[in-house]
Amino acid sequence: LNGFLAGLYSTAGPVADPLPSLKIAVLYASQSGTAENLARKVTKDLKAKGHIASLICLEGYTPAALLTERYAILIASTYGEGDAPDAVKPFYEQLCLEHFPCCENLSYAVLALGDSSYEHFCKFGKDLDAKLAALGGVRIAERVDCDVDLDASFAQWKTAVYASLDDLTDARPARSAPSSSVTPPLPSAAAVSSEETDELPHTPAYNRPNLYLAPLVDKRPLTQDISSKLTLHLAFNISDSAVTYEAGDACGVIPQNDLCLVEEILHTLNFSGQVPVQLPKAGATTLHDALLNHLQITRITRKMIAAYATIGKQTAQCHTLFDLLVPEQQAHLEKYTYDRGLIDLLHDYPKVLHDPADLVAMLPSLAPRLYSISSSPYAHAGEIHTTVAVVRYRSHNRDRGGVCSTLLADRVPTGDRLPIYIQPNKKFRLPKETDAPVIMIGPGTGIAPFRSFLHERRALGHTGRNWLFFGERSATTDFLYQDELLSMQADGHLTRLDLAFSRDQDRKIYVQDRMLEQAAVFYKWLEEGASVYVCGDASRMAKDVDATLRTIVEQQAVIPSEAAIEYMQQLKDQNRYHRDVY
Ligand code: 2AM
Repeated sequence: LNGFLAGLYSTAGPVADPLPSLKIAVLYASQSGTAENLARKVTKDLKAKGHIASLICLEGYTPAALLTERYAILIASTYGEGDAPDAVKPFYEQLCLEHFPCCENLSYAVLALGDSSYEHFCKFGKDLDAKLAALGGVRIAERVDCDVDLDASFAQWKTAVYASLDDLTDARPARSAPSSSVTPPLPSAAAVSSEETDELPHTPAYNRPNLYLAPLVDKRPLTQDISSKLTLHLAFNISDSAVTYEAGDACGVIPQNDLCLVEEILHTLNFSGQVPVQLPKAGATTLHDALLNHLQITRITRKMIAAYATIGKQTAQCHTLFDLLVPEQQAHLEKYTYDRGLIDLLHDYPKVLHDPADLVAMLPSLAPRLYSISSSPYAHAGEIHTTVAVVRYRSHNRDRGGVCSTLLADRVPTGDRLPIYIQPNKKFRLPKETDAPVIMIGPGTGIAPFRSFLHERRALGHTGRNWLFFGERSATTDFLYQDELLSMQADGHLTRLDLAFSRDQDRKIYVQDRMLEQAAVFYKWLEEGASVYVCGDASRMAKDVDATLRTIVEQQAVIPSEAAIEYMQQLKDQNRYHRDVY
């Protein structure tokens, strides 16, 4: 992968110096504004010391986000009978749930605020401090309890905290780049250190274009060697970042093309990779970098062929290309582009391109790839998991593959870093009611968000029933996450698991066939308030599942099809029918 990231960022300005600073969340729970004012002062001081400090109100903040923090300063007011301020109660209640994961990566310090004329002096701060210690957090300074007249205590606590942080910074090596990688660019630091963000509620710092160079820490096949396909489980470490996500979100990956293909294209065209070119988004770079990191060089589209034919309009061979572009030839054009790529076009219609700028102008940008996240921040602290089907096929005497899935499978070893970001999917969330039943239908990699949901519901102690329909080609080779799912079924967390292995018998069996077999129970769950989630292939599976859902309602409720359509519409209106299909 050497050179990948350097290449990727070569047009984004110089690579930043290593950062000696710490990324620190300054969290406050304020009822009257005192804690907020103190937190603001602390944030300012920390920034002045060169740290990346963000001021965050605990209202609306989730304990899941806390799991992704390495350093947190907490300033907590106490209210009423030793309670948390009202708006912060949900945060604290979640933190106290029986199954809340360990916070052993967290180093923290608490300043407790209260009024000694009350019996429960500083109780919330004390409780929070004790809870974080019980969850495995490490104190960087002892808690100080402040009375109404708090100046001296605050100063004493601040001094202790800052001294500890100074020690940590001195002891900590400057953040160095891994061997085959570069230090992350600074968008995140810039995003959280600007003064204006002080006024903003906490927002995740890494979304496009704020990329995080996440180390790939695990990569293993979920399918057996002899399977007809390869599906991978991947884990990225985000514990040293500000990346936060929720179950249902997707992870965006910025891919890089296959170096061999880039070189073949350059060779075919007799172009030097070193010639300078201008890209609309990335600006000036070399042709090699443009082809490797910025442009789509695999699949061909009608638009690309039209551009190519126009460039070569003087040449005899391009006349046949123009013929393909007329509406009557649509079927032929589709047949040509279906399983061929740019390299085939260059070979089939040679000597058209003489100027690298023409090549750059006809190619679309290389788009990021999105993968549904298969982990839960509550169950897999500090990591993001994804489930990736590796696309490979052979056509016209050439092995081909998906740009990003083959990059992940073949060209990124664990330990290397990849630019990722979170693509929130607010429409694909677990029900708010923790006791609501859920029915999840996810064949193939459609299992990803449901693995996340199942782990999340377990980690948070949700009591709602869980029903999963999963399908793949063969039980012996393609049962993704088999051990986890069977053990969740065995211990009852997965109330029902229905499997459809399509190629284990003469007749194809799909998830929708299993749904129909269970139509009566399926409908009963719907009537009991179940939410339905579908994830996976949009072109056929999601349509067939949708039709089957309607059939089940029609049959079981014994109603005409218009009424069944209305029933489905109500499910959608009630936020109980969600689809994440691609
Ligand atoms: P097949 O490839 O054997 O046809 C994951 O890809 C699983 O989804 C495979 O078992 C695949 O079966 C199956 N599948 C293919 N088309 C489908 C459809 N229209 N509805 C549901 N599952 C489908």
